[in-house]
Amino acid sequence: TAGVTGCGALAGETTGEVLTTRAPRPEPFRVPLPLPRRLTPTRGPNGTDRLEVEQREADVEILPGLRTRIWGYDGTFPGPAFVARADRRTDLVVRNTLPVPTSTHLHGGVTPPGSDGHPTDLVLPEGDSAADWGPRGSHSGHASHHGGTDGWTFHEGERTYEYPLRQRAATLWYHDHRMDFSAPQVWRGLAGFFLLSDAEEEALPLPREERDVPLMLTDRSFEEDGSFRYPSLDPSLTGEPGVRDAYHSGVLGDIQLVNGAPWPVLEVTATRYRLRLLNASNARRYRLALERDGARAARFTQIGSDAGLLEKPLTHETLTLAPGERFDVVVDFSRFPAGSAVDLVNELGGDTDGMGRVMRFRVARRAKDDSRVPAVLSAPERIARRQSVASRRFDFRLTNEDGGHALWTVNGRPFSLDGTWARPRLDTVELWALSSDFHHPVHLHMAHFKVVSRSGRAPAATDAGWKDTVDVRPYETVEVLVRFAGHRGRYMVHCHNLEHEDMAMMANFDVV
Ligand code: C2O
Ligand code: CU
Repeated sequence: TAGVTGCGALAGETTGEVLTTRAPRPEPFRVPLPLPRRLTPTRGPNGTDRLEVEQREADVEILPGLRTRIWGYDGTFPGPAFVARADRRTDLVVRNTLPVPTSTHLHGGVTPPGSDGHPTDLVLPEGDSAADWGPRGSHSGHASHHGGTDGWTFHEGERTYEYPLRQRAATLWYHDHRMDFSAPQVWRGLAGFFLLSDAEEEALPLPREERDVPLMLTDRSFEEDGSFRYPSLDPSLTGEPGVRDAYHSGVLGDIQLVNGAPWPVLEVTATRYRLRLLNASNARRYRLALERDGARAARFTQIGSDAGLLEKPLTHETLTLAPGERFDVVVDFSRFPAGSAVDLVNELGGDTDGMGRVMRFRVARRAKDDSRVPAVLSAPERIARRQSVASRRFDFRLTNEDGGHALWTVNGRPFSLDGTWARPRLDTVELWALSSDFHHPVHLHMAHFKVVSRSGRAPAATDAGWKDTVDVRPYETVEVLVRFAGHRGRYMVHCHNLEHEDMAMMANFDVV
C-alpha cells in the first residue's frame, strides 16, 4: 500500500488545504450583508403546506465587478430561507434545471427515509432520463466505488419531498447530497436555511424580524474571471492536482463569505440581535469571537443548538463551529456607542490572509428594544445514560484504496450502498462513541443526540443542547446519547467535511 501524504498534519488545527484565489481580493466590510429571501409555504391542494423551488444556474456578483456562475436554489446563493411551522406537514417540490443530478437533504429534519435526500435518490436534470446518466447517476461512472447498482432511485426533472416536521423549532438547513459530488455542488451554491418555528418559540420575547438574522458562513476561492475555483475530481482534465490527491483532507477557500457576500457589513441599532450562525463551509472550522479595535468586546448568549432551543441560555466568549453545526445566539449591541464597529472574527482563520475576519456590525444609532432573553427558554426532553439499550463505536479514519488514493472510512469500511453499520430500534436510546484520527464533524440523519463526554471528560460548554452534528477532533472519542425517534428505515451517519463525505466517509444505519 502506498503511504498517505500529510499524515503529520492530522493532529494539527488544519482541516484542509487552502485553494488560492486568482481574482483580485475584495476590500473587507464594503458589501452590505445580503439577507436570503424568506419563503413561506402556500396551502397545497390536499391541505398540506407547500414550498416550491427550482435548482438552476445563475450569474451573480459575489466579487465586486465580476460575475460568478452559481448553481442555486431559485438561482440564489444561499437559496431562499424557507420559513415553516413545526407539526405542519410541508411538501417541498424541487425542480432541477441544472446540468447535473441532485439530491436535497433537510439537515436536522426528522424526515421519513424516502424524503431524506439519500445520496443515491436523485433528481435528474429536466429533460434527461436515467439512460442518460447510467445506473449510478453519473456520466462517466468513474466516481462510484460504493457497491452494486441497486439502491439508486431516479426522478426525472422534479420531485416532492414530504416533511412531517414533527420536531421542535430549530434552525435547520438544506443542501445538496448527491453521491460523490456533494462537495463541488454545495461549493457552487446549493445550500440554504430552513427556519422551523413553533408556538413555544414564538411566545418568547426574543429579537424578531430584521433583528433575527440568519448568517451562513462559507469560504470560497475564485478564478481570475470570478468563477468558483474548485479542484477537479479528475486531474487529467485540468492538468492540476485533483481533490482526491492534493485536497483529500478538505478544500479551504481563502475568501470568507457570509450569506454569499465577501466580508460583509451589517448596520445594526444599539439593541439585541438574534444571530443564527451556520457553518456551511465544506471543510473549514471556525472559532468565533466579537471584537472591537482588536480586543474582545462582547459575548454570545446562546439560546439554541442544532436541534432547537436550550433549556436555559448560556454565555460564551467564543463559539467553535464545525461544518454542519448551528448556534442560535443573541448579541447585545446596546453597550456600544453609535458609530462603533464590532467585528465577528475567526480565531482559527488567521493563518490565511484575511481569513481571521468574518464580517462587521456597524452600530448606527440607539433604538427602543423590548426584546429580552428569558432565564428559561424551553423544556426539551432530558435524557440519561441509563436509558441506553446499546453501545456502539464508530471510528472515523483515513485509509488507502488501491492505487494509493485517500479513502476515508467508518469502522475500516468505505461507504457501500448495500451495507449497514447498525440497527437501532425505533424509540430507544443508544450510546455511540465517535472516535477519529483527524477533525471529523459527525452528522446523523433523522436522529438527534446529546453530547455526554469528550475523551472521558465532561463535554464542552458549547456542546449543550440537542444536536445533529458534533465536532470530533483528532484522536478524540466523543460519546453521544442518540434518541431514535421519528421513523423506521435507512439513514446515514457521516462526516460533514464534504470532501471526506464524497470520499466515502459515510455509513448506513437502519432504524428497525
Ligand atoms: Cu448536512 Cu448528510 O448532511
Ligand atoms: Cu471527516
